[in-house]
Amino acid sequence: MSKKLDAAVLRQDFPILDQQIHRQKQLVYFDNGASTQRPQAVIDAMNDCYTRTYANVHRGIHWLSEQASDQYENARGVVQRLINAPHNNEVIFTAGTTLAINLVANSWGRANLGPGDEVLLTICEHHSNIVPWQQVAADVGAKVVFADVTDDGLLDLNDFKAKLGPQTKMVAFTAVSNVLGTILPVKEIIALVATVGAKTLVDAAQHVPHEPTDVQDWNADFVVFSGHKILGPSGIGVLWGRQTMLEAMPPFLGGGSMINQVTTEGFTPGELPAKFEAGTPPIVEAIGLAAAIEYVNQISLPAIAAHEKQLAGRLMERLAEIDGLKILGPSIEHRSGIVSFVVDGVSPQDLSILLDQQGFAIRVGHHCAMPLHQKLGLKSSCRASFYLYNTMKEVDAFADALAKVVKRLR
Ligand SMILES: Cc1ncc(COP(=O)(O)O)c(C=O)c1O
Repeated sequence: MSKKLDAAVLRQDFPILDQQIHRQKQLVYFDNGASTQRPQAVIDAMNDCYTRTYANVHRGIHWLSEQASDQYENARGVVQRLINAPHNNEVIFTAGTTLAINLVANSWGRANLGPGDEVLLTICEHHSNIVPWQQVAADVGAKVVFADVTDDGLLDLNDFKAKLGPQTKMVAFTAVSNVLGTILPVKEIIALVATVGAKTLVDAAQHVPHEPTDVQDWNADFVVFSGHKILGPSGIGVLWGRQTMLEAMPPFLGGGSMINQVTTEGFTPGELPAKFEAGTPPIVEAIGLAAAIEYVNQISLPAIAAHEKQLAGRLMERLAEIDGLKILGPSIEHRSGIVSFVVDGVSPQDLSILLDQQGFAIRVGHHCAMPLHQKLGLKSSCRASFYLYNTMKEVDAFADALAKVVKRLR
């Protein structure tokens, strides 16, 4: 069954958005880049598992364990179809994007990086795609290098090409900047990287929930994302990896489920995907994630992308009317539904506190992207980020409220 993208109707599926009940004011939730909200269908799917079918997976031959295992493996298939992964066992459930990147950095990185090698990132990465590489590079004697962005918020391809070379062993980059909203040319970047034979990891945390993702079309080696940014629960994320790569990599975490055999002398690792899913996995979270993806599929990702672009375009027009306000990032054609900004002489923190008092939830701070803020000469910024339940009416109300708050704070 498909659903039309009518945000005013869809938002009725999200109980938390009716905040009049809780705070006597209408919530305008523009913090979707940090985390999205859950529709009743996701809450019901998780509730149903806990109420009727919960047990540990792959560990018992009893009926409940079979039910839970079937649902857990079904969720893997739902993710596989979402990102067009060629093989089911290439989809690894992790605790989130952060853990997925740590897995690749530690497993692939420690086995393949050494002195003189470089990991090339972009300056607009989230800390979770910087720090794990810095940690591993420091241990193995490799170097982390950053490609710049241009003044208009696009990846500086000349700088990127200049920094890409035979010394580059991994290029790990975001598909969409969580601050600038820039949509990076993922396919073009991966094609460039292929010319030097390096591997690629795409941080798709801000991409998978907002537009179609096809890992085969991208031709990436690794793609990662988080469940909570696509209407799913927190505590679950996905690492997709090319099968040959994952098979060649050593396990990251050790424990139950990830082995073939354990003796007092040692162990042999299990097959994919179990090899990378040590311990009891996020069972109910996987079931919730599958329900979230099914909800998003009913609406369709191209429709969601178009809706968010309209909202972002409108907000950018309205913000341009405010004196001294600077929007970070590129023009609307290169942008997803993220609009970050600063206002001359006004603290981003003060702005967001006053807006929060009126029911507007936005993000303020460095958005886990300190190197980018340092490059921009900023300590922090405000960020409005949209999802399918946001409306044009909310954007206008936000722009009106912001204009008034700016006046008050000056
Ligand atoms: C681009 C990007 N990468 C990685 C992350 C980290 O995701 P998580 O905290 O779910 O692991 C985020 C979260 O804000 C993000 O926006």
